[in-house]
Amino acid sequence: MAGLTEERDESGKLNARGEIQEAFSFLNVRTWQETMEASARHAVDHLPAGVPVDLVSQYAQPWCLEVAILATRTDAGDRDRLSQLSAQAFAATGEPDDSPLQSEATAASAELQRILGKGGVPMAEPAFVGTAQTLPRLLASGWLALLEHPAEWARLRAHPELMPGAIEELQRYAGPVRSVVRRARASLDLGGVRIPAGDRVLLMLAAANRDPAQFPDPDRLDVTRRATGQVALGMGRNSCAGGTLIRISAAVATDALVAKFRAAELGGAVEWRSGSRFAWPAVLPATLRGRCSSGLVIAQNL
Ligand code: HEM
Repeated sequence: MAGLTEERDESGKLNARGEIQEAFSFLNVRTWQETMEASARHAVDHLPAGVPVDLVSQYAQPWCLEVAILATRTDAGDRDRLSQLSAQAFAATGEPDDSPLQSEATAASAELQRILGKGGVPMAEPAFVGTAQTLPRLLASGWLALLEHPAEWARLRAHPELMPGAIEELQRYAGPVRSVVRRARASLDLGGVRIPAGDRVLLMLAAANRDPAQFPDPDRLDVTRRATGQVALGMGRNSCAGGTLIRISAAVATDALVAKFRAAELGGAVEWRSGSRFAWPAVLPATLRGRCSSGLVIAQNL
């Protein structure tokens, strides 16, 4: 997603889309799942209970870095450098085109592509940045929603088989990507609005995910809701090619947390970072309660 400048055909289809979907297919992600689960269990085992802990810097970010290294078949020895470069590549997200962060991001992306190119994964740089930088933000947004709805946290704990559907609902309710951009190739009328050829059009994903015609009582978080049709990862032929990796990763990381702690509440002020098209908690202080000795329970039914 970040800095996606790859070749597209006449119809706007991404030339490498099939290769990416193949590289991050369900079968491939399943082969990484045991390792993802073990590192998630390890990470939540080390989270303190009863005192505020930032779930972004202490869990989501380090865990997603491990998943990015795994998914792009990269040498883990480079993790600090890869983490720094992906943070630079991502830092320009939502920034104006003339921001100095843009040139730093372009240089970091190029260096990342040089390092990751050895792994033979198609579009390894956006895949790495999407996993190491965007995924932690998606997790933080979803976990904040769970912290604000303790009954939903408890329901997920009692019914771990709900996790795949819950991940769709958390994306619907709290997806970090608010809108995506399109340009009208020809003049058209949309909902009685005339859009001249060449005009930029913002597709409001977050608003669509709160459409009461599609999602009754849309402002209510409900982990039992069938949120199919939610568009947090885009839609149609340009929908996120990393969707399978994102969905399975989000389920593994969320389950490890919910299975480990009976309850959790906000442990301080949430620091938001938002731009015109994105919004996410940059810091998510949580107080975790009721540490359990048991761990992961859901992975089998993903
Ligand atoms: C949580 C992390 C991520 C989020 C929230 C996200 C979100 C999105 C969204 C909303 C789009 C649609 C953009 C549009 O329609 O203009 C998109 C497209 C895309 N994403 Fe992701 N993405 C994430 C991670 C990833 C990862 C890890 C990969 C690679 C494995 C990836 C690869 C792509 C590609 C290749 C496209 C362009 C698809 C096309 O135009 O055919 N994304 N992503």
